[in-house]
Amino acid sequence: MADEKVIDIPPAYTVVGKHDMMAKANHDETARFNYLVNMNKYLSSVLGAGNKLAYDTRVLPAFEKTHGRQPNHRHEIRRAMMLDPYHRLWSAMRRNTMEQRQQAGRSLVLRQIDELVEKAKSYNEGAETLVFDDSVELPRYVAGVDHHCMPGSYHTELFDEDVSAGANYDAGLFVTTGGALGAYADGGGQAVARWARNEHPDWQPKRILDIGATIGHNAVPIAQAYPDAEVVAIDVSKPVLRYGHARAKALGVDNISFVQMSAEDLSKFEDNSFDWVQTTMFLHETSNASMRRMMAEFHRVLKPGGLMLHIEQPQYDDEMPLYEQFIRDWDAFNNNEPFWSKLHELDLDEVFADAGFSHNECFHTGVRAWADPEIFPPSQTGDEEDHGRAAVWHALGAWKEGAPAASKEKEVA
Ligand SMILES: C[S@@+](CC[C@H](N)C(=O)[O-])C[C@H]1O[C@@H](n2cnc3c(N)ncnc32)[C@H](O)[C@@H]1O
Repeated sequence: MADEKVIDIPPAYTVVGKHDMMAKANHDETARFNYLVNMNKYLSSVLGAGNKLAYDTRVLPAFEKTHGRQPNHRHEIRRAMMLDPYHRLWSAMRRNTMEQRQQAGRSLVLRQIDELVEKAKSYNEGAETLVFDDSVELPRYVAGVDHHCMPGSYHTELFDEDVSAGANYDAGLFVTTGGALGAYADGGGQAVARWARNEHPDWQPKRILDIGATIGHNAVPIAQAYPDAEVVAIDVSKPVLRYGHARAKALGVDNISFVQMSAEDLSKFEDNSFDWVQTTMFLHETSNASMRRMMAEFHRVLKPGGLMLHIEQPQYDDEMPLYEQFIRDWDAFNNNEPFWSKLHELDLDEVFADAGFSHNECFHTGVRAWADPEIFPPSQTGDEEDHGRAAVWHALGAWKEGAPAASKEKEVA
């Protein structure tokens, strides 16, 4: 019998999790999303490999001839690759699929926006778990950027009670991640919760703060994993909070509140008032200076023995080849992620230490997104726990010194 081959195509949009707040996609919208998810996958895998070929066979030899040495920084590789026709074409196509994804999501959402607004109102009206504060200023690093080609980013309100930014984000994340975060695009939060429960089974956090929660993709599974905990999800952008609160209610999750607040000013929270402070794919969208202010706040509000955990793509360290650093930097220069490059070159342990965390209490580990078995069946990956093609992220954490928070063995990737 011939060897069984894994056909590496992304799952179809029809498996996306359909909760009550989710925008409903018709036949043509589903087809458009399926085209985009497959195009993204093709660009990152098959055509993406052509970039390395162009580098090895054309760009690097030309660089060596001109400079008499190899490139010594990812930016040198970027500047040389920008002149290569294959890379330019690939880059333009990738940028174009990002723009198409946003337009596909917006047209889906805006044609049914009245219905979505009414539905959100029915979940949100009178709820004490949705708190707005108009005195919160929108930071320039949010207001000034259409993140990953998202017109108006997370914060823009086209009219009163707008939820379109949140609904668009929810509808399209499955497309940009190729479904690798599972049906509800919550595989990161699920993985973090599994990590916490497996590595620290006696730890029972009572108050959890999720920062830059957007629509709660990753705060919700943490709230579900710790049903006795109170989860506070903060964000500066109103439309995503509005949508996120309604989405959590639609998913039947009640132990989470959505609060308009900036991570730079947590003064409404007492010192030592949270067991766990958490971010997921958030730090790369903040400026360097603001991140340092946030870290000091995270340290202040954490209880002694409490956990700070940040989920991001891997840092660029000496172990990571310069070519890989260059290709991972693509979003910074082509996909409206202006803080991405700087964040990934920082020594975050030093940043944590500057905020008051002890070096001895810092750790790095990897978390593999928990993508639903229906989407990535174990029979394809050969491992019940693995879900092989699901995204792997880097987790950087630090325990605040003080009374122990159950068992906390240091884990290094
Ligand atoms: C990339 S998204 C985070 C994704 C989200 N954590 C998740 O798990 O899906 C960044 C979010 O951070 C929010 N944000 C940016 N700066 C902030 C700040 N200073 N305080 C709170 N939220 C902020 C943005 O409004 C946006 O919703």
